Amino acid sequence: MQFAQRLQPLQANVFADMDQAKVKAKALGQDIIDLSLGSSDLSASDHVVAAIETSLHDPSTHGYLLFHGTQAFRQAVAKGYSQRFGVPVDPETEVLPLIGSQEGTAHLPLAILNPGDFALLLDPGYPSHAGGVYLAGGQIYPMPLLAENQFLPVFEEIPASVLAQARMMVLNYPHNPTSAIAPLSFFQKAVAFCRQHDVVLVHDFPYADLVFSPDGTAPANLNTLAPSVLQADPHKEISIELFTFSKSYNMGGFRIGYAIGNAQLIKALRQIKAVVDFNQYRGILNGAIAA
Ligand SMILES: Cc1ncc(COP(=O)(O)O)c(C=O)c1O
Repeated sequence: MQFAQRLQPLQANVFADMDQAKVKAKALGQDIIDLSLGSSDLSASDHVVAAIETSLHDPSTHGYLLFHGTQAFRQAVAKGYSQRFGVPVDPETEVLPLIGSQEGTAHLPLAILNPGDFALLLDPGYPSHAGGVYLAGGQIYPMPLLAENQFLPVFEEIPASVLAQARMMVLNYPHNPTSAIAPLSFFQKAVAFCRQHDVVLVHDFPYADLVFSPDGTAPANLNTLAPSVLQADPHKEISIELFTFSKSYNMGGFRIGYAIGNAQLIKALRQIKAVVDFNQYRGILNGAIAA
């Protein structure tokens, strides 16, 4: 049997590798602390589960949910975002539900890259960022994250030949796996750089709420420690941000997130997704609204 070349780079999977390592360690009777996958060991809140349960008993939730999800979900997202980050959001054109942020990061390159185009990715970074670029036939330019640079990429080091064919940059702060956070000034720099080079700026933002002050307590104002890219691009000229309910609300298994940002990018991602999926179950969206 012959398979497509794009399968080659997908053969290694860090999560499968870690699973094997865990099985091996457990078989040897070792007591391990599992840091391999950021899956919460707490349950989703009761009111979230109750909203989903109520939906399950409502047959009107059982059908397909086409286009861009429910208006109630988009409005809840837009309201929450503008309240928290001070950026007005149009629920009709600037919000799209996702089946987790992983799904959004994997599908988005299909909407942006032509074969051979470069995506500028954080190195190290989350596997779906590279996986999506492979699926789209793009090339990856890894931007090294070094401790001496506070684990932030140095844009000036990207070669001009790469920039000439670069179409997207993917950031992720608070960052997995270094846990680095990026100040608003960094996002402002990234927006200016991407605008200058006609590059789409994607911010994967699953850890928006997992930020601690140096003394280990939750900070009074999360946005100053973990800003949204939209604070740096309030008119949403080039940016799109991906959020998930997996981490903040212990809902990893429910597979629910959203994209928010530039209306053209949201529309393009919706067009790609329309080929592949019919969106999340309405009851899960109701759970997310409750969250
Ligand atoms: C940076 C990053 N992006 C995306 C994801 C996937 O999140 P989701 O559950 O929304 O697919 C994770 C999960 O660990 C992550 O760390």
